[in-house]
Amino acid sequence: MADPFLTVASRLAPAFAAVAGGPADAVVRPSDRADAQANGALGLAKTVGGSPRDVAQKVLDAAGDLSDILASTEIAGPGFINLVFADPFIETELARMSVDPRLGVRAAAQPRSVVVDYSAPNVAKEMHVGHLRSTVIGDSVVRLVQFAGHTVLRENHIGDWGTQFGMLIEHLLDVGEDRAAGELGVGDLDGFYKEARRKFDASEEFKTRSRERVVALQGGDAETLRLWRIFVSLSTVYFNEIYRRLGVLLTDDDLMGESAYNDMLDGVVERLRSAGLLQTDDGADVVFPAGFTNRDNEPLPMIVRKGDGGYGYAATDLATVIDRVERRGVTSMLYVVGAPQAQHLQMVDAVARMAGWIDADVEFHHIAFGSVLGSDRKMLKSRSGESIKLIALLDEAVERAAAAIAEKNPGMPEEERARVAGMVGIGAVKYADLSGDRIKDYIFDWDRMLSFDGNTAPYLQYAHARICSIFRRAGIDRSDVRTAVPHLGDPRERTLAVRLLRFDAAVWEALDGYSPHKLCTYLYDLASDFTSFYEHCPVLKAEDDAVRTSRLFLCDTTARVLAQGLELLGIEAPEQM
Ligand code: ARG
Repeated sequence: MADPFLTVASRLAPAFAAVAGGPADAVVRPSDRADAQANGALGLAKTVGGSPRDVAQKVLDAAGDLSDILASTEIAGPGFINLVFADPFIETELARMSVDPRLGVRAAAQPRSVVVDYSAPNVAKEMHVGHLRSTVIGDSVVRLVQFAGHTVLRENHIGDWGTQFGMLIEHLLDVGEDRAAGELGVGDLDGFYKEARRKFDASEEFKTRSRERVVALQGGDAETLRLWRIFVSLSTVYFNEIYRRLGVLLTDDDLMGESAYNDMLDGVVERLRSAGLLQTDDGADVVFPAGFTNRDNEPLPMIVRKGDGGYGYAATDLATVIDRVERRGVTSMLYVVGAPQAQHLQMVDAVARMAGWIDADVEFHHIAFGSVLGSDRKMLKSRSGESIKLIALLDEAVERAAAAIAEKNPGMPEEERARVAGMVGIGAVKYADLSGDRIKDYIFDWDRMLSFDGNTAPYLQYAHARICSIFRRAGIDRSDVRTAVPHLGDPRERTLAVRLLRFDAAVWEALDGYSPHKLCTYLYDLASDFTSFYEHCPVLKAEDDAVRTSRLFLCDTTARVLAQGLELLGIEAPEQM
């Protein structure tokens, strides 16, 4: 166990249990006064009686000798137990962490099979910043869950079906396949869509054709399907270009669009009917899940099949559940989807449970997120008021990063700079998205996200690169210091060491709430602790060899935690900047 907080908690547990006469949590937390604080006596006093301070004393008496892990224990305030870790204990734990390829991060006790539903842009429509968020957050969740030892299935539930394809196909035929492919191929998806929409609204003849085309599409007409596939394949080429630039794990093998579930939709209705859940409302087939009401407090239906016989978003999502649980055998379903779809997903969850498709032990979790805002606190738009083109946004990030690097490190060769700028620019955009609590909206601010100071990707990447350069300058192989046992003399070394040992806790906190920002906060604190260590403790010019090796060890471990942490966020760590 690398995390000293866990070791202390487990060593105090028997003492708390002895005083409580049964299991009791020591409630070990970080503290400003000491390394840690055990707060369990406060709660325990309520059940066993006596003052919390007395209870704390009894716990310490029962605990006996803890000197192998603690330098001091002190009862403070209303009954906290302040704990200071023993230096040799931290040193040994750190030495163990360094030789562990997982850097002390525990694997899940029970591996699960997890599907992560994320990105999910819509065919023939511009991918917007909401899809960017889903892609970036989803990618980090995939990496975290995988690192924990679970099996992850990525699913990109693209919007590739629906009545809009009627007008899109007719417009395609009007302009000619080649020209349409040209427009769509350069990613002008919105322009094409808008033009089709305009014609649909303006011309009765076009509207009729479009409607007939929808019927042909739903009926599986071969030529219509061929035309539909043009949209899907051109759009996925465009999506893939974005994924490639972002460096996310999604591939074509992960595509599991709405259309993939078409054959299951009749079955969804049949199964709901035979479960006795289906009702008719205004000609539509609906289910009323318990606990959902509209503004007027009337039961809210989930529309499974519309009055005209067509299926919508809800039916497909019910089919995803059946497919994931029954065919893919998953025990967790994670939906990385914007907060406005919370009610939709809650209803899918509720209906699937009522129908008995998911058991109590199957997790259905909405990993919701807020919007991306411009500096005017409104939805992010381009200067002309159009929706932002993601490719242009990513290009700008890399350009800006290149300029920032040129300023900071003018000597860096052109080619190297371009490579590093890619990592820093994309890293900055991703980190800005990941570092705040995902449920909140965030303001897209170039200067802030690309700053080399503060809770940003460039700051973390710079700390990492700086450490790499220490080793480069000294001509020392990093793996040579990895088996050393560090010695903690200076208080900054100690602070850094304790922080390093908290990596496991940080990863698990991020995992528990599917909250990558918790990992970001940790990495930022780590980089800050490293900065103050590095300012006060000479490394290459240390007073003697033992101190030098010990400090190089701290540098190496810090760089490894930074790189591993960034990797879990889907961000690269350049070796120079
Ligand atoms: N395509 C949808 C949109 O753009 C997101 C789909 C999310 N996933 C799901 N299974 N509903 O809003």
